Amino acid sequence: MKKIVCDNYDAMCRLAADRILDAVRSNPRAVLGLATGSTPIGVYELLAEAYRAGTVDFSEVVTFNLDEYYPISPDNRQSYWYYMQQNFFSKVNVRPENIHIPDGSAADAALACRAYEAAIEAAGGIDLQLLGIGQNGHIGFNEPGKELYAATHVTPLTEQTLRDNARFFSADEVMPTQALTVGVGTILKAKSILLLANGKNKKAAVARLDDGMLDPAVPATFLLGHRDVTVICDREAV
Ligand code: PGA
Repeated sequence: MKKIVCDNYDAMCRLAADRILDAVRSNPRAVLGLATGSTPIGVYELLAEAYRAGTVDFSEVVTFNLDEYYPISPDNRQSYWYYMQQNFFSKVNVRPENIHIPDGSAADAALACRAYEAAIEAAGGIDLQLLGIGQNGHIGFNEPGKELYAATHVTPLTEQTLRDNARFFSADEVMPTQALTVGVGTILKAKSILLLANGKNKKAAVARLDDGMLDPAVPATFLLGHRDVTVICDREAV
């Protein structure tokens, strides 16, 4: 695991965006694993800027998002489907049929999870996976526990995650208490992984990556078992 400490959030985003742009330029059919939350917003802005400047083409790129609230409809402005349209897909030329986000409106969540895992396999697996990290050490919505799921699954959200994400919801919006998320095994199958962490509230979780122990109570530590992970953080997160 390689760790790069950047001066600030903008520099982190520049570095991560450049890694993604390199991946797409060298393989226009790259399969990208994408993340939501506040952390990657600056990265999506830079990718959109590169697209507007004509220096990258996303028309053959295939994307798989990490997770989605459950249950939630795609047109709910709190859905990750909505987030991705707002922050990225509406600004670039990823083809709609190449976009995959776990189906938060599926009647049968377990079936939707199996289909999602199969779609990732059918696409040949993820080439480059972008990740954030929760204060509780979650990646995707793989929440701390005694055991972790390998594959895409339905999960209750922990109290910590509900508290952390409550900031995105207004008083009249109901926050789902469950989610669909790719599993830790799904993430570890990606060829290359970028984990972004900024701000002092991420410091404790990032520090646990230095311990060298795989601990299901801090799901991100399982990334220590992967051969190509780059942690990109700002000074406050280390
Ligand atoms: P954040 O969330 O980017 O909003 O801090 C990260 C995560 O929960 O993975």
